[in-house]
Amino acid sequence: MTIQSSKTPIGLDGVPAAETALSHVDGDKGELIIAGERVADLVRKSSFEGATACLWTNATASSVTEAEVRAALGEARHRAYARLPALLSASAGLSVVDAFRSAIAGLRAEPGLTPQATIVGALPVIAAALVRRARNAEPVAPDATLSHAADTLRMLQGEKPLLAEATALDAYLVTVCDHGMNASTFTARVVASTRADLFAAATAAYCALTGPLHGGAPEPVLEMLDAIGTRERIEPWIAAALARGERLMGFGHRIYRVRDPRADVLKGVIEALGPRAKDLSFAAEVEDAARKALAATKPDRPLDTNVEFFTAILLDAVSIPRQAFTPIFAVARAAGWTAHALEQQRRGRLLRPGSIYIGEMPE
Ligand code: ACO
Repeated sequence: MTIQSSKTPIGLDGVPAAETALSHVDGDKGELIIAGERVADLVRKSSFEGATACLWTNATASSVTEAEVRAALGEARHRAYARLPALLSASAGLSVVDAFRSAIAGLRAEPGLTPQATIVGALPVIAAALVRRARNAEPVAPDATLSHAADTLRMLQGEKPLLAEATALDAYLVTVCDHGMNASTFTARVVASTRADLFAAATAAYCALTGPLHGGAPEPVLEMLDAIGTRERIEPWIAAALARGERLMGFGHRIYRVRDPRADVLKGVIEALGPRAKDLSFAAEVEDAARKALAATKPDRPLDTNVEFFTAILLDAVSIPRQAFTPIFAVARAAGWTAHALEQQRRGRLLRPGSIYIGEMPE
């Protein structure tokens, strides 16, 4: 006897997997609250270090200040730089995204630093070294006097970034530092729930992030804009892609039924950057046409712009190469992953969902 498959495809939609004081997503209102602040307000008021301090404080119920986070991340960047030869040794020949996975797995506890600072501090050092290795360039040593965002750009480009670029990247890091029970954060919590350590949780979370349905979308967004190329091709290109059954990258979301609030935050950041950014009016026309085409093709399912559409344009504008988009997303989201792993360890139980068996049963 075979048991019938359930009619609704399983995706754990709406199933709570945790109680959290870290962030809240309201998909109907299009609202994201991180550590008690609406995302737009948090970006206006807080640096990445400040937002990370709020997340770690809420996760552990033990107060940590922005200055302490800034100092710990600066020290952690130095420790990671000293370990680079070992961290990168196993990944020769891999793409930046894949080599980053192997390097995170090689991180370990550092004396005098918390695991969360060790992880968040290490990620831009690894990302920058991998991008430079792909160009046959030597890694650039970190500068602990700079902000995490400014030092990330400096280690990538080899020179101190313009203030406008560092400000834009900082705003991006805050915007995406946490986002409820997204797939990579859920992964981090599952791993932490087994009492595995934060290094294991962050490694697993990054693996979940790399897929094109989650953190791997921005690179294909730029590829789509490049493939469309000119204004006359926008509508026919989108119509042909949808007719082939393809998903338009940067659109749709499991939770949001309206526009992702982070899209507008990032659009504002791009506008403030001025002419450095890719042709924003062309991108806005593509966005508009995509939203109309999706509404016509899927009238029962509101599909609107998500954070990844403008992420692609912003990261490109601050000269981050496409192959580093997913690792740079990880630089930001590691603040959330580590906070969720700490919160899970403090308050949660082993996460162990059920399943619906649809195989054969014995007579
Ligand atoms: N383009 C075209 N069709 C789409 C899109 C899209 N971007 N998104 C969803 N659909 C379609 C699905 O194919 C599905 O059609 P079907 O019923 O005929 O099979 C229908 O809309 C409903 O899909 P959902 O249930 O809404 O999709 P789900 O919640 O499983 O997926 C997801 C959400 C993965 C984000 C999806 O919208 C998608 O693939 N988007 C493109 C990739 C992307 O931008 N990812 C980044 C997300 S943001 C982030 O993770 C940081």
